[in-house]
Amino acid sequence: MASEFLKQKAQINPLGIGLGLRREMAEETFAHSSEIDWVEIAPENYMDTGGEARQRLEETLERYPLISHGLNLSIGSTDELNFDYLRCLKKLLDEMKSPWWSDHLCFTSVENLYIQDLLPLPFSKEAVKHIVERIKRVQDFMQRPFLLENISFYMYMPGNEMPETEFIREIVEKADCGLLLDVNNVIVNSINHKFDPYEFVKELPLEHVLQIHVAGHKKIGDYIIDTHGAAVIDPVFELLDFVLQKTDVRGIMLERDQNFPDFAEILQELKRLREIAAKNKQFQSPGKVEMRGLQRTNLRGKEPSALTA
Ligand SMILES: [Fe+2]
Repeated sequence: MASEFLKQKAQINPLGIGLGLRREMAEETFAHSSEIDWVEIAPENYMDTGGEARQRLEETLERYPLISHGLNLSIGSTDELNFDYLRCLKKLLDEMKSPWWSDHLCFTSVENLYIQDLLPLPFSKEAVKHIVERIKRVQDFMQRPFLLENISFYMYMPGNEMPETEFIREIVEKADCGLLLDVNNVIVNSINHKFDPYEFVKELPLEHVLQIHVAGHKKIGDYIIDTHGAAVIDPVFELLDFVLQKTDVRGIMLERDQNFPDFAEILQELKRLREIAAKNKQFQSPGKVEMRGLQRTNLRGKEPSALTA
């Protein structure tokens, strides 16, 4: 059966090179709109809230296309899907006119308690079936192209029946959703779990990759920890280059969540991403990508409760 997701992907305009919106860098992010094409937000920071956060969202919408990258979908959990959360998120995505949205291939809740961490799943047939069924229900409800991100993790769950690449492929193809490929997560896992990152990405359904994350990490003892708090290392840029030789994407985004450097360093990393994309003939339109069809909603004055309807 033809993939509905791939048809949708073909119709999405490339956004280009993006940056994660962080309060600590918001001012500089707003000041450099000629070097940043779009911005990614954690929707949980902006749902059912007012004040400073809503003001920041409004200011961002005036300048950038916005993409939502959530934490609390908990797609792999055995908890019931949280439709209160999805209703709030859907309202926010409508306001942002996000061309796609994403979350993580993991679970983040146990007995409806959100644990604020991305926990790995057993790579089992039962988990594939469970997650595919949930993704289909989520997609039916949200009606917007949806991507799942491969996570970094520090131990394998018991009960694995297949390699992670097969687990991802089975889910993405059977649910017919997109993949947000985090190349830093692949590098982190490849060092911690001793596998070849290039063989890993070759096994993925790369045609389903719509967005890519790039980030830095830290070596602590024998492990590499996915901190998003350091400069991006060359092997991550090189893996990005390799992936872009094999598939076309609609957005590449730099994640920097702590240990914030001088903004010139961030701009330098964005420039390098742009060069790698250009080398691979991605985002062919020169300069800033036009915000075609993106809504410029004025959120000022809206009550937070409007998001919970
Ligand atoms: Fe990521």
